[in-house]
Amino acid sequence: MKRLWDKGEPLDQRVLRYTAGEDHILDARLVPYDVRASVAHAAMLCAQGLLSQDDLEAIEDGLGALAESHAAGEWEITLEDEDCHTALESRLTAAIGEAGKRVHLGRSRNDQVLAALRLYMLDAADELETAAGKVAQALRELGEEQADVDLPGYTHMQHGMPSTVRLWAEGFAAELEDDADGIAAAHRRISKNPLGSAAGYGTPGLDLDREATADMLGFACVHEPVTAVQLSRGKAEAGLTFELVLLMQDLGKLASDLLLFYTQEFAYISLPDDMTTGSSIMPQKRNPDVLELVRGATATVNAALTEILGITTKLGSGYQRDLQRIKPALFRAIDTALASAEIMAVLIDGVEFEEDNIELDESIYAAERANRLVTEEGISFREAYQRVAAELNDQD
Ligand code: ARG
Repeated sequence: MKRLWDKGEPLDQRVLRYTAGEDHILDARLVPYDVRASVAHAAMLCAQGLLSQDDLEAIEDGLGALAESHAAGEWEITLEDEDCHTALESRLTAAIGEAGKRVHLGRSRNDQVLAALRLYMLDAADELETAAGKVAQALRELGEEQADVDLPGYTHMQHGMPSTVRLWAEGFAAELEDDADGIAAAHRRISKNPLGSAAGYGTPGLDLDREATADMLGFACVHEPVTAVQLSRGKAEAGLTFELVLLMQDLGKLASDLLLFYTQEFAYISLPDDMTTGSSIMPQKRNPDVLELVRGATATVNAALTEILGITTKLGSGYQRDLQRIKPALFRAIDTALASAEIMAVLIDGVEFEEDNIELDESIYAAERANRLVTEEGISFREAYQRVAAELNDQD
């Protein structure tokens, strides 16, 4: 029996290849989480009198060993396995015999994949929150180090009001901290225990303890009722991805500012040589590719959100295989956002503002002068505005 649902009839290889898709590759990252969920499930079965203590121990040891050997690169999920759930169960049974066949009681790959995905997303969200926080931290340090360097504050990409490196950096830092908070808030939808919902309709005839697996796995609550579980697939994924869209928007804007500041015309900043790349034909080039790729990556994460929402929109209730297609988009969004935030934290550390190249035109103080006229002379802002405008006109 090759797959969990194998009843001995042959499967067309073309159908296997199409239905498994990239699962055997994508599921690699779910292996440790599927193991954790399976161990908790088996422990619960044992506590409910549905699995012997000996079998539980064999399952725990067997799955633990498989997680380790997988992490060490000693085995991989194959196309024939179809997915991580099958790969683990068939290897477990090969290793420990009969007991391996007892773990799949009161569960389905439908709740299993969600348990693994949610445990993975909880870890990923923590990593992403930390990474966004690191960019914010790097910006706060940059703002601190070059606090008093003046910068033009732009509106419409025109000099508007005086600003400083500190003010510029702290604005981005605050928004990145807000993004980190948003990612942390995504936990609410993720942290619900799907185990025990099985294919989506519970386990008639079996008394499972869904609270117990929730506690063992650290889920905040049991996802109830069982019919809500499959309806929700894609929502926590979309919620987290949406937060990543916002994170990438901020990283993209930061990249855009820095790209402008790095042009020869502006030359507001310098970057360390080891953070720029070169050209194969123009020997003088030092290219800020990192910033361009971060800016470009915003599209990748936006598209992932559209893809996830597109898959679930108009889907009826109950598990349907379409849901499998959420995984690549989710993983792509997480990987892209994480890598982008991590490299931006590194790059920000290397940014140096070139004070001598930053010139603020006198006119940039116009609003400040008008404000002073109001407080010092008691005239209306409208009148002060007109007076300052006239003064500036006379100077031309
Ligand atoms: N790879 C599948 C997914 O991600 C696992 C669940 C398969 N369930 C099924 N009934 N075929 O959705």
